[in-house]
Amino acid sequence: MMRLSLRFVIPLMLALGAIAYGVVPLVDDLTLKWFVRDLDMRSKLVTAAAQEPLVELLTAKERDIVRLQRVQAFFGRLLQDERLYALGFCDTTGRLLYKTPALPGEIACRKANAEVEDTGHVLKLPGGPLHVVARPVTLEDQRLGEVLVVHDMSFIERRSADTKEYIVYLFAALGAVVALITVVIAEISFRGWMAGIKALIRGQSLALSLQPKARELRPIARDLEALVHDLDAERRMRDEAQISWRPEALRSILREDLKGDEILIVSNREPYIHVRRDRGIDVRRPASGLVTALEPVMRACSGTWIAHGSGNADREMVDAQDHVMVPPDKPAYRIRRVWLSKEEEAGYYYGFANEGLWPLCHIAHTRPVFRAPDWEHYREINRRFARAVESESRTADPIVLVQDYHLALAPRMIRERLPRATIIAFWHIPWPNPEAFGVCPWRREILEGLLGSSILGFHTQFHCNNFFDTVDRYLEARVDRETFTISYGGEPTEVHRYPISIEWPPAPLAAQPPVAECRARIRREHGLADDVRLGVGVDRLDYTKGILERFAAIERLLELEPQWIGRFAFLQIAAPSRSSIEEYQNLDARVRAAAQHINERFGTPTCQPVVLRIEHHDAAQVYTCYRAADFGFVSSLHDGMNLVAKEFVAARDDERGALILSQFTGAARELPEALIVNPYDTEECAAALGQALAMPPDEQRSRMRSMRRLVQEFNVYRWAGRMLLDAARVRQRRRLASGSKRTAQVVDLRRA
Ligand code: F6P
Repeated sequence: MMRLSLRFVIPLMLALGAIAYGVVPLVDDLTLKWFVRDLDMRSKLVTAAAQEPLVELLTAKERDIVRLQRVQAFFGRLLQDERLYALGFCDTTGRLLYKTPALPGEIACRKANAEVEDTGHVLKLPGGPLHVVARPVTLEDQRLGEVLVVHDMSFIERRSADTKEYIVYLFAALGAVVALITVVIAEISFRGWMAGIKALIRGQSLALSLQPKARELRPIARDLEALVHDLDAERRMRDEAQISWRPEALRSILREDLKGDEILIVSNREPYIHVRRDRGIDVRRPASGLVTALEPVMRACSGTWIAHGSGNADREMVDAQDHVMVPPDKPAYRIRRVWLSKEEEAGYYYGFANEGLWPLCHIAHTRPVFRAPDWEHYREINRRFARAVESESRTADPIVLVQDYHLALAPRMIRERLPRATIIAFWHIPWPNPEAFGVCPWRREILEGLLGSSILGFHTQFHCNNFFDTVDRYLEARVDRETFTISYGGEPTEVHRYPISIEWPPAPLAAQPPVAECRARIRREHGLADDVRLGVGVDRLDYTKGILERFAAIERLLELEPQWIGRFAFLQIAAPSRSSIEEYQNLDARVRAAAQHINERFGTPTCQPVVLRIEHHDAAQVYTCYRAADFGFVSSLHDGMNLVAKEFVAARDDERGALILSQFTGAARELPEALIVNPYDTEECAAALGQALAMPPDEQRSRMRSMRRLVQEFNVYRWAGRMLLDAARVRQRRRLASGSKRTAQVVDLRRA
């Protein structure tokens, strides 16, 4: 600290020394001028006083010797003034008639200038400087001569030396006082600063800017905070790059970064559904990207997954607390089932979530429908899930992962019940622009609900930006796009991009036969010859998936390239979905009709171009189809991510096969090696189909290799791990902030 202060003090002293050095000659010069002017005045006074007696002496009728004696005596009396050094008298011809003994020989009478008034001058002699001035002596306008008045100036030199000394002392004292004040203030400020910076680096966000005493430092604090944020992000990126994202990585985050904190997942869809069949109870895995992604995470982390018990045998499988351990063959975590009546499911799930929010967020040109009773159910069921979270949590500050658009209100409802929980909400579908979102009659409530989260995640930055814009438009909130934070009514919500993915290596791949066998098996199963080229599409039967557009492209391909008739088939697996909704029933009918139409037009006795299977397939069957195909086709009209694209890539450990991928999926941003298409452009899609069928093996390999590398690296463990690391950071900051708040309260109490 002393050294730091010297950095201020030394330049300050040098500056003051330089100023003193420059000021002394100036002051010297100035005082000399003042003194000379003073001596001029004195000379005038002396001559004025001497005028009369001197004229009398000069004009007296006396002998010269007597006059000389009397004038000199008179001059002698005048010289009693200690400053007056010598006097002389010159006649009008310039002759020195009388002088006192001390008058130096260097001083002579004026001649030529006798008529011009003398202004005086300084004569520098070895004995010291003298001030000399000649003043006229007159009698009734007649000039009698001039008196030479000589003053001793050595006192001026003495005074000037004294002044110089005083100035040096003055500046030295000034320097000392300023230095002392600087050191003391710097010491006090630095202490406060250092405390603030330390707090900031420890993670107490806004610690500095919240200190009222450090108001002037707020801009710097903000910059510093941004810097720490960037460094933090950089460090995390470095750390993450070094992590091999496997289940063990998640477990170690839970152990080390989250200190074994409790994890709860909340979603509408459950990962295992118990269904009654004739031969007993089956366990089914739903066709859901959300489940595909989260199930491996939960297997790695344990904890509780709270979800709607939707299977008709679900109630038979739970204990008294509605719990069931899963996976059935190797229990690792538990499901807590939440029950809904048929009416509630119709309003909350089919109604508000899937007829309202689903088409609202997917720009697929299906009109959203909003009904007040559906909204009431939606609110009530969100509340039920929040209550379930409260009753399931063993601690006051669990980490709660709230999933998807079915539970937009739950984050705030959970926050009200568990204020210290870390709530991470993830929105699995796109977030539209403010205009599109604005048609929702309960837009405000939805936004407020989501902003109950500590962290809110979307698949892409584009969706995050749309969310920022929407909040900006409809709420009085502080939206800070630099720190990705929204502050609304208290707690801040961080909004980040977490692109979802699948587990790597995918579990269903382990039991798969070699690709050649998959190819043969699937062709056999669907009555296709061995050499028929096969494309595959795997979707829920949903209008956002662009299945009709896909079929239109197939039809166009066969029109344009008839050589494929009888030699190419497309296997479309469509899992029935939300079939109580009219729009989905219509789609079902239209998809069937389109397939039939193409088959009638281009089918041969041995090869139907579209093989449509509208039924549930388990993961193993789906992976066999992926491996059997020459290409996969994902033509979503709008999709948050689309994990089918990633699964297709993951299934192809033979590095063969092409992927056609809609530009309107989140996945298209990560997999540019796919053949990216606009699903609305039938010609483009047909051309991509032709390209996929004709793609040379080397090209397939190099594209597939690079896509596989990406999916391997950016797998679902990284997706979950990044969210959990962010949760750990948020929790640490909150702990530190509440620690320092407590300290501040104690200090305040003591002061009071
Ligand atoms: O895309 C959103 C999503 O929740 C996915 O995560 C999932 O694939 C799908 O919808 C499931 O829909 P549902 O639960 O209605 O069958």
